[in-house]
Amino acid sequence: MTRPTSGFGKDLVGLEPLTAQQIRVILDTAEPFKEISERRIKKVPVLRGKTIVNLFFEASTRTRVSFEFAEKRLSADTVNIGASGSSVQKGETLVDTARNLEAMRIDMVVIRHWASGAAAFLAERIPSHVINAGDGAHEHPTQGLLDILTLRDHFGDIEGLKVCIVGDVLHSRVARSNIFGLLKLGAEVAVCGPRTLIPRGIEELGVEVFTRVEDAIEWSDALNILRLQLERMKGGFVPTLREYNRVYGVTLPRLEAAPRELLILHPGPMNRGVEIDSDVADGPHSVILQQVTNGVAVRMAVLYLLAGGAPDLAESAKSEEDV
Ligand code: CP
Repeated sequence: MTRPTSGFGKDLVGLEPLTAQQIRVILDTAEPFKEISERRIKKVPVLRGKTIVNLFFEASTRTRVSFEFAEKRLSADTVNIGASGSSVQKGETLVDTARNLEAMRIDMVVIRHWASGAAAFLAERIPSHVINAGDGAHEHPTQGLLDILTLRDHFGDIEGLKVCIVGDVLHSRVARSNIFGLLKLGAEVAVCGPRTLIPRGIEELGVEVFTRVEDAIEWSDALNILRLQLERMKGGFVPTLREYNRVYGVTLPRLEAAPRELLILHPGPMNRGVEIDSDVADGPHSVILQQVTNGVAVRMAVLYLLAGGAPDLAESAKSEEDV
């Protein structure tokens, strides 16, 4: 079975395989979709008749809910499946689960999985479109896209922007998607954290490495701050959370010492008082909730484009009232 696409291939498993132009098309397509979420009737008939399964094998608030909102606002029929309560608990494999869903004639699968490579593994084995909603420490492409869209909203252009990703880079799929996407669009990218949480050889991707958060803050236009992913850590990567906050926490006094005002991003969930202090998270330069708002538009754009939609949305964005 072949599926229609808009030149994006069948699936979205990461930003690494995309071209700069493909990333720009997704971001540009997200722009008109932002407005749909502000309407009284937040619904357009773009994906009417399509069936989408959201397969979440790991906990999620933002990604799961915003994919579901994106699907519903595009009029798709959606089903949500988690590991708990499904036959995965009885030992059914990922592929068997997906093939059984395919037998019910679905069109797309959105998958979050603890294993790096799970989305690509599935995409190679089922004819439905597969969208990676985060796989292990590999990629979280729609998070990378919504972070870049939020940066573009504020700075106008990504080219030449200095973005530093601060925190647990080692275990972060968000860091990898940001690095691939930002570098393709011409940003300068750095990472900052204790050596134990920076992947060995990351410089080869073209990023600068800071081990002092003060140096990262001095260099940057924007910080994307990551939480410590304690659930993925098998050893002691930091002495204590308090010690981590003392040395690497993004705090107001540290930001006030910066030569310029920095934009503050965080993909969530936040651990306040660890990687970020509340007066930074809730401060005037934080765009953390705007990232969440942009997540719906970005996911609408990805769903629309993978389903074969043309980047010109004029017709597609008509509301239910218009048709
Ligand atoms: N940013 C992010 O992926 O958040 P969730 O884990 O809540 O989906």
